[in-house]
Amino acid sequence: MNITVIGTGYVGLTTGIGLADFGCDVCCVDIDIEKIRILKEGRLPFYEPGMGEVLLKNVGNGRLKFSIDINASIRAADMIFIAVGTPQKENGEADLSFVMSVAENIGNYIRGYTIVVVKSTVPVGTNEKIKETIQNKISNRNLSEPNESLDFDIVSNPEFLREGRALYDFLHPDRVVIGTDSERPIEAMQKIYRPLYLNEVPFVFTDLKTSEIIKYSSNCFLATKVAFINEIARLCDAVGADVKAVSNAMGKDGRIGNKFLHPGPGYGGSCFPKDTEALAFIGRTHNIELNILEAVISSNKKHKEYAAEKIIQSLKHKVEPMIGILGVAFKSETDDIRESPAILIIDKILAKGLKVKIYDPQAMNNAKCIWGERIDYCNDEYEAAKDCDGIAILTEWNQFRNLNLDKISSQMKGNKFFDFRNIYKPEEVEKSALEYIGMGT
Ligand code: UGA
Repeated sequence: MNITVIGTGYVGLTTGIGLADFGCDVCCVDIDIEKIRILKEGRLPFYEPGMGEVLLKNVGNGRLKFSIDINASIRAADMIFIAVGTPQKENGEADLSFVMSVAENIGNYIRGYTIVVVKSTVPVGTNEKIKETIQNKISNRNLSEPNESLDFDIVSNPEFLREGRALYDFLHPDRVVIGTDSERPIEAMQKIYRPLYLNEVPFVFTDLKTSEIIKYSSNCFLATKVAFINEIARLCDAVGADVKAVSNAMGKDGRIGNKFLHPGPGYGGSCFPKDTEALAFIGRTHNIELNILEAVISSNKKHKEYAAEKIIQSLKHKVEPMIGILGVAFKSETDDIRESPAILIIDKILAKGLKVKIYDPQAMNNAKCIWGERIDYCNDEYEAAKDCDGIAILTEWNQFRNLNLDKISSQMKGNKFFDFRNIYKPEEVEKSALEYIGMGT
């Protein structure tokens, strides 16, 4: 079976590499010439731990290829994965123009029976629209072609991988969701995911719309957990309680679970902010009030502002105040800063006239695209602390868990230590003459 994956973002590239590693012949295509050039050289276009080796292995054994020729790759495919982006429009709605343009190409160029697998996160009803679009294009094709052989099926197969653990999540999913309105593609789907099937990963077979809602609901529920514990952190700050103990005790209840219950500076990334907005938009479109979700969105925004205010209020009385920021990626193990809480926090701090220095182990280049000359870029944590009134951990990189606190303290002018990922114990920080300010602790 020849597989074509269209779109080489986190989802598409991981799918391509993962399927090649399962033994399939895969061609990943993208319109981004530079990205494909980098991939053909056996390099990753973004930072993702552990993925580079598997990429090289499968390029080396010939199972994984890259191309910019979308139409030729569609013609050669028995199965096509659509994994292009669905960015957010101004009104929160998902922009489906990339997905629909791929659907048109598929309708124009497929050769025989083809299974079209939709991996992109798409609103309810999109899989059906994709099907219609492909069908219309096939109907318009030259009548001399044997139209009956241009048959296809649509499968909705949402992806649940996390950045920073992308390949691991693809190879060890909690479940695989397969939405279809036809029996015909099921055997082929089971075949490509055979290693997961053999490992007894649960498979959920359902219809197209249900599958679309499963993806959004999963991300939105996780975002809700994070927003909830962040609200409790704000309450703990107000009353002098310890959110770490609250979260720990809550998480021991099997019905609640301890995952996604860690307070931070707010959730970010390319998925939670976009998908919460998109599902809220879908609710509004269908006149269904998704009150909890609307509250989660505004709560997360408030929380990022709250984090910024904590820094501003502590430092505003200093003469020419300066803050060192450790971590601007939206979470650790990624260089991605899309919708990172650091963006709103740093912008607010700058707007109040504070000077900002940053250090992030992987995200410095992406940071330069956002802040340019407006902030200072440092080579390590200690340079970021130098002459600062405060230092703030925004991303939970492992290397920030073991800072030489005496050295940090000796570099600084002031003594405020903002630990917005709650990775230190207040007493160990205070031993180094620093004032500990956590998130709800
Ligand atoms: C998320 C989902 O976890 C994946 O299952 C999904 O496939 C993916 O979106 C997607 O739709 O593509 P990701 O965006 O990589 O994955 O990031 P997460 O690990 O889920 O973290 C999201 C945000 O929540 C981050 O800003 C993180 O710092 C924050 N978070 C997470 C917390 O503040 N506290 C927690 O306890 C957990």
